[in-house]
Amino acid sequence: MTAEAEERLLAGFEATIARNDRIEPRDWMPDAYRRTLVRQIAQHAHSEIIGMQPEGEWIGRAPSLRRKAILLAKVQDEAGHGLYLYSACETLGVSRAELTGLLLAGRQKYSSIFNYPTLSYADVGTIGWLVDGAAICNQVPLCRTSYGPYGRAMIRICKEESFHQRQGYELLMTMMRGTDAQRAMVQESVDRFWWPSLMMFGPPDAESTNSARSMAWGVKRNSNDELRQRFVDMTVPQADALGVTLPDPDLRWNDERGHHDFGEPDWEELAAVIRGDGPCNAQRMRHRRAAHEDGAWVREAASAFASRSAGAAASHSAEASATLSAEAGAR
Ligand SMILES: [Fe+2]
Ligand SMILES: [Fe+2]
Repeated sequence: MTAEAEERLLAGFEATIARNDRIEPRDWMPDAYRRTLVRQIAQHAHSEIIGMQPEGEWIGRAPSLRRKAILLAKVQDEAGHGLYLYSACETLGVSRAELTGLLLAGRQKYSSIFNYPTLSYADVGTIGWLVDGAAICNQVPLCRTSYGPYGRAMIRICKEESFHQRQGYELLMTMMRGTDAQRAMVQESVDRFWWPSLMMFGPPDAESTNSARSMAWGVKRNSNDELRQRFVDMTVPQADALGVTLPDPDLRWNDERGHHDFGEPDWEELAAVIRGDGPCNAQRMRHRRAAHEDGAWVREAASAFASRSAGAAASHSAEASATLSAEAGAR
């Protein structure tokens, strides 16, 4: 391609972004835009799949049939989210198998929140309330992201995430109306998940390496700090209604700013978890790898079936056209 032709394509791409229109799979896009999207969507897809582990552990220990049905539905939704997102990523020319390979080789990441353990059933509620709540804050703006397939996947995902948030809040509310021991269990769980939830928005804007360019391309619509603030403002009244204390002595309403002030998360902890030194990183990857290996026969069987069906369809259509030409000949 001549430099002039490439410049024309780039100008067209930038005009589409400036108009707030969507970039679609067949449109020309700069390599760096494609790479940024693959990285972000893949990380998002991996998070949905790995995110099934901490809660999945509790399905067999749910306290009632109703709780089990809710949790099962929620964990299955997360599997579905992973699949929509892998499909969105495939429109950029990378296969799901490649992405899974990159995750298993440690070359792509997933959200650090899933490297924390779930120690009690209250954690199912806290994850729904805080972790899915933070995910909603992050994901609602992504419904308007500049890449079409990603934005459309996010619309359905966000609807399901709000069910996740509600079921978590309802579980915690039920426990808070229970015994002292149940209330203590909720508070202990919130104490463990509050700070890691704030870290889900990523490092502070000043240190976020990929943010500025993602914003310019309309891949991201709000900065990490803006979204974190939005989450805190949304969550504080909900914590009051529940009757739990958020474990931050600096948390208070600031009249001048019209927002809550809050303390600084431990960024060294976030860096350590991202590096692989969180409490459950090794366990999560071990489990993911084992699931991949145990599922090998399913993938083999599915591809054998698909190629046999494709073969049958091909010979069927060859037969049909032979019949047609025989009929044509007879006429
Ligand atoms: Fe999800
Ligand atoms: Fe969710």
